Amino acid sequence: MKHILSQHLGKRSSLIPFLQDIQKEFGYLSTKAIDELSRSTDISANEIYGVATFYTQFRFSPPGEHTVRVCQGTACHVRRGRQILNEVEQQLKIKAGQTTEDRKFDLERVACLGCCALAPVVVVDDKVHARMTAKKISSVLSQYKGRQTRKK
Ligand code: FES
Repeated sequence: MKHILSQHLGKRSSLIPFLQDIQKEFGYLSTKAIDELSRSTDISANEIYGVATFYTQFRFSPPGEHTVRVCQGTACHVRRGRQILNEVEQQLKIKAGQTTEDRKFDLERVACLGCCALAPVVVVDDKVHARMTAKKISSVLSQYKGRQTRKK
């Protein structure tokens, strides 16, 4: 945390990059990290939360071991992206934005993953699963259930 603080101190305008660096390092914005950031700057914790909660990129609880991103952009939507998201939510027993109780998976719905030709797309960690169907979800998720984490 100290190296992140030293990079950004005195640059009030760099709050977002500051928060991005903290999340990159720790996986989320903990209360402790925000308090430390507040103490090291002239920005109140309330103000930091106000900024951070405005952006969907920031999370306030530890991430799951594997991140499942289900695309809901136009190309994926017209190819049953919503049905795929419903299936993932049902199988993981969580909604988008949540983490499974065993902290194995977290689920995100995203607007476009930049590979529309492969629609509908699900990305688990960094691996793209192209032309997904609701029927394939179980087999994709099972690949990660026994696998150790790729995150810190
Ligand atoms: S709309 Fe899904 S990858 Fe672009």
